[in-house]
Formats: sequence, C-alpha cells, structure tokens
Amino acid sequence: MKIVMLGAPGAGKGTQAKRIAEKYNIPHISTGDIFRDNIKKGTELGGKAKSYMDQGLLVPDKLVIDLVVDRVKQDDCTNGYVFDGFPRTIPQAEALDAALKAMNEEIDYAVNVEVPDSNIVDRMSGRRACLNCGATYHLEHIPTKVEGICDTCGTELVLRDDDKPETVLKRLKVYHEQTQPLIDYYRDKGILIEVDGTKDMAEVFTAIVSVLEK
Ligand code: AP5
Repeated sequence: MKIVMLGAPGAGKGTQAKRIAEKYNIPHISTGDIFRDNIKKGTELGGKAKSYMDQGLLVPDKLVIDLVVDRVKQDDCTNGYVFDGFPRTIPQAEALDAALKAMNEEIDYAVNVEVPDSNIVDRMSGRRACLNCGATYHLEHIPTKVEGICDTCGTELVLRDDDKPETVLKRLKVYHEQTQPLIDYYRDKGILIEVDGTKDMAEVFTAIVSVLEK
C-alpha cells in the first residue's frame, strides 16, 4: 500500500502516518524528519535545508525529489510506505509519479487531513518534539509521563524552531499557495481520501482505516 499524507502543517499528518505505518507494517517516510536528522548530524543537506525551514519556506524541489526517489528504491519499501510531508508541490508529485511509473508502480491513496488554520497555531505551540527518535507529543493532548522528557528514548523534548507562532503563520501561507493544489491533483486521479482532522486522534485513524479497508 503506497500512501501520501496531505494536510496543513500541524494537521496531524505525522501522528496518523505513524499509526498507519505501524498497522500495515510499512515504513513511515517523513521528509521533515529526514531534514531534521541531517541538520542534527551537520550534513551538507542539513545545512542547505535549515536555512529554508527556519524561515517557514519549502526546501527546493530538487533537493527533496532525489532524496525521496532514492528512498523508495530501498528494500523495506517493497510492500509500500506512507509519505508524510511529501509531495509538497505539484512538481514533486509529478516527479514522484514519473519515478514510480518507471518502476511499474503508483500511489494508491492520498489522505487529506483537514484542519482549519484557526486550530493550527494552538496545536503547534503545544507540540513538543524529540529530535532523537522523532516522537511527537502535545502538552495537553499527548502529555509525556515525565514533563519535557521523551517517553520512548528519554531525550529532552524541544519546541521546534519552526513551531514558533510567527513561523507557523508563514508555513500556513506557503501551504495554501504551494501544497493545497495537490488536493485537486489527487482528487482528479480518483484516489483522494478526506478526513476531518479536528476529531480525536483515534477517531481520525478509524476514519482513515475504514476507507483503506473498504
Ligand atoms: P514537516 O516536518 O513535514 O512539517 P509540516 O508538514 O509542517 O508538518 P508538521 O510535522 O509540522 O505537522 P503534522 O501535520 O505532521 O502534525 P503532527 O502529527 O505533528 O516539514 C518541516 C519543514 O521541512 C517544512 O516547512 C519545509 O521547510 C521542509 N520540508 C519537509 N518536507 C518537504 C518537502 N517535501 N518539500 C519541501 N520542503 C519540505 O501534529 C501536530 C500537533 O498536533 C502534535 O502536537 C500532535 O500531538 C497534535 N495532534 C495531532 N492530531 C491531533 C488531533 N486529532 N487532535 C488534537 N491534537 C492533535
């Protein structure tokens, strides 16, 4: 099963993608996590990505596309994967489709998690992220057992640099201009699933699974 997650920053794409990956035993491929990992390790890719991410801008398509095309050729992707944060632009979606076509494959579903902008800033300011293992929490909705410490690996949690309110507003603007058109792109292909992301996380997941297993 090959799935693309769509939705505004903070809509809950990562939260749902992790659950889908676990249930169907397929890799969760988050381009945001890949960039954050590269920033942490001080790689050349990380250095290039950071300047865009800190401003709430998208990393240039070329840097993202090559990385993703290499990733889907790895052995663990044989039975599918769930993309989180990719594609983010029409050129990224077209490049993905072309790369998959060359492998006789295609995306099966695009899941759009819908949350109004008015909910997003609150969600993001409450999010706490583990830069070591990629786990995410929320001060109110998913609190950790020990305040400020990752339940999974014990690392101190942080407020991501790009989750500060002024940067979130910029990311939302970029989302509406460059990423939202992908909703029609996948609707036109007949593979769009739309879910109400304002519901409780478990309800959102049930709604997604009920369509995937129809
Ligand atoms: P990325 O890491 O992909 O960030 P994003 O898309 O902005 O999405 P987020 O991870 O912020 O949010 P999410 O939708 O996954 O929400 P989450 O589940 O965490 O990208 C970061 C940056 O990297 C980009 O700005 C760009 O610069 C660059 N980049 C990445 N990919 C790129 C690409 N393809 N091309 C170019 N540039 C790229 O949930 C948010 C919070 O809400 C959490 O605290 C969660 O606990 C809570 N929550 C989730 N669901 C619910 C619910 N149902 N009810 C209540 N709370 C909830």
